[in-house]
Amino acid sequence: IPVDEFDLVIFGGTGDLARRKILPALFRRFCAGQMEGKSRIIGAARSDHSTQEFRDFVTESIREFNGGTHCEDGTLESFLTHIDYVQIDALGTDGWAELAEKVEEKRIRAFYFSVAPSLFGALAERLHEHGMADSDTRIVVEKPFGRDLASAKVLNAGLAQHFDESQIYRIDHYLGKETVQNLMAVRFGNMLFEPLWNSQYIDHIQITVSETVGVGGRGEYYDKSGAMRDMVQNHLMQLLCLIAMEPPAKFDPAAVRDEKLKVIRALDPVPQDDLVRGQYLADGPEKESYLQDVGDTSSLTESYIAMKVKISNWRWAGTPFYMRTGKRLKARTSEIAVVFKETPHSIFGPESGNHRNILTIRLQPNEGMELGVTIKEPGPGGMRLVDVPLDMTFADALGPDAEDVPDAYERLIMDVIRGNQTLFMRGDEVEAAWAWADPMIEGWEDRGDKPKTYESGSTGPEEALMLMHRDGRRWREIRT
Ligand code: BG6
Repeated sequence: IPVDEFDLVIFGGTGDLARRKILPALFRRFCAGQMEGKSRIIGAARSDHSTQEFRDFVTESIREFNGGTHCEDGTLESFLTHIDYVQIDALGTDGWAELAEKVEEKRIRAFYFSVAPSLFGALAERLHEHGMADSDTRIVVEKPFGRDLASAKVLNAGLAQHFDESQIYRIDHYLGKETVQNLMAVRFGNMLFEPLWNSQYIDHIQITVSETVGVGGRGEYYDKSGAMRDMVQNHLMQLLCLIAMEPPAKFDPAAVRDEKLKVIRALDPVPQDDLVRGQYLADGPEKESYLQDVGDTSSLTESYIAMKVKISNWRWAGTPFYMRTGKRLKARTSEIAVVFKETPHSIFGPESGNHRNILTIRLQPNEGMELGVTIKEPGPGGMRLVDVPLDMTFADALGPDAEDVPDAYERLIMDVIRGNQTLFMRGDEVEAAWAWADPMIEGWEDRGDKPKTYESGSTGPEEALMLMHRDGRRWREIRT
């Protein structure tokens, strides 16, 4: 279904995010026929470009990053007619009058702040000064949304000066991933799971986001963040919320975000002993170590983190959530494993062994679900039990359409235009997540904790295995 006509202004229009994600995503939606009529995409940046030069930039970005989407001949040419460019100075006055003239009041107006967070406040201020901050304007902001609670509050306050919360779309691209949205469909669209979804039946839950890439090329940013700020406070936190929250009354922005917020507020502080941080080692001359990648041999920033998280509420008291994420690990995979308890009593006797059901939701790649069930091992002997997977890959089950999974940005940008905030983070959610993360970060910074080392291509530091072993549990294998 096509969306209403809109003007989308991308501040930082010639930047890396625009090139890799935003522009190709818009093009794919255009190919899909979702962007009709006179909608316009206006790049805005500091550099001096003609509209034609910016269109060339857009063309190159699409050629490089459109992910093999096939569109009819001539689609790119007609897409380019919707593209415009304004040279603008975020901190000064140049270009603002021109921009104000270009964006039309009569239609949906969205401003994408694809720039450093330090410019958010200035952009909001300029939009206001030049009459573009009316009650229907939407603004889109990216992570990092602050680096601690104090800075997140400053950013929120800066935006709130001129925009209401209902106009602010804070992106966490994990929420735009199809399978992440599917977490809600699985939990709340089936009768099967929800009655068992609590500490009475679930032993523990594992959330794994493992990457094979290192931080090379982004070292300067990454070394100031580390895995906790870069991944846990936002992406893993969102996954945790969707898995742990109470059923919202409706699938609408207020209801969903209220429930997520309650989860974050119920998180216990994580004690030092329940945390493991790591840094990857070099892998031959080609793949440098973390310390080489960031060019600082004394860096104490983590490229890996594992932790045991407790949620203090009725549903989850007694069921820990183990989370881990890291760079340069064995495989690129994100999954959530829900490990159920053993049956209260085994009618088959001790020789049948210990068995548990495990529901694994694979977020990427090879999106799908697997449910481990226990059955009888075939044969004439006694009653021996064995665990087998009920395995479903979504692409197999849903057919070829499911293979063309839209990129997270396609869904999220269109949601901005539709005015649907369900998959965006609310200001109080972001602040609550920082309020939880801050004491941990301050703790290791004050103590000067040194991250453990781990081999590139491994599953992380040994100490992370111990985090589970001492509770009599083990991590799921990281599979390719
Ligand atoms: C980004 C982080 O937000 O998410 C990166 O800054 C990380 O460090 C990336 O690599 C992972 O996203 P995805 O979609 O590849 O899982």
